[in-house]
Amino acid sequence: MTRNDKLFSDLPESVHFKDKKRSSIGVFDSGIGGLTVLQSLMTYFPEEDFLYVGDTARLPYGTKSRETVIKYSESLTRVLLRENVKAIVVACSTASSHALEAVTALAHPIPVVGMIEPTARAALAATRNKHIGVMATAGTIRSKIYETTLQALADDVRVSVAPAQILVALAEEGWVDGDVARLSLGQYLSAMFCGPDAPDTLILGCTHFPVFAP
Ligand code: DGL
Repeated sequence: MTRNDKLFSDLPESVHFKDKKRSSIGVFDSGIGGLTVLQSLMTYFPEEDFLYVGDTARLPYGTKSRETVIKYSESLTRVLLRENVKAIVVACSTASSHALEAVTALAHPIPVVGMIEPTARAALAATRNKHIGVMATAGTIRSKIYETTLQALADDVRVSVAPAQILVALAEEGWVDGDVARLSLGQYLSAMFCGPDAPDTLILGCTHFPVFAP
């Protein structure tokens, strides 16, 4: 069994892949990455029902243009709205970077929650040296959303970034703890973490990446 099979098999019956229940919270991602978010949601809100959509047909989002990510995110939002969800979690950092406004406008008055501000706040609460690293998809890094959000919340914070698109494919493939994963992580992170001035906190700024946390 790969790590990805495990992510799916761990999901309890409260996750409905095709359920018209009005009370579900809709969750979407470009693929299986959002399942890491779903697992946390189920831990914090065990009484809720969830409806998850992973757009594996059009993955990855991290290499696509802002316009395309907005278009795809809107189409997933429409799928969830048709299922009468009561709230939407954009469990994709790339979609949160480019399309949160569009999704919020489309879903109004249903509340929409993205990934960027909550993770930025958590990183600011954790850092001691006020230097935060961000590893994310090419699209999220290109958008500069983490620099903008972190610096809006704390003007004395420094931000170092590493676009790490290949990790999305490795996570989808379930290659999360072998040599390929280790070498790729080293390639992306060694420059950021060399020297005494390195970040003391790293944002895994793509929902596919928590599987590499160990
Ligand atoms: N899981 C997504 C994110 O959080 C996107 C990965 C991708 O499709 O490139 O950014």
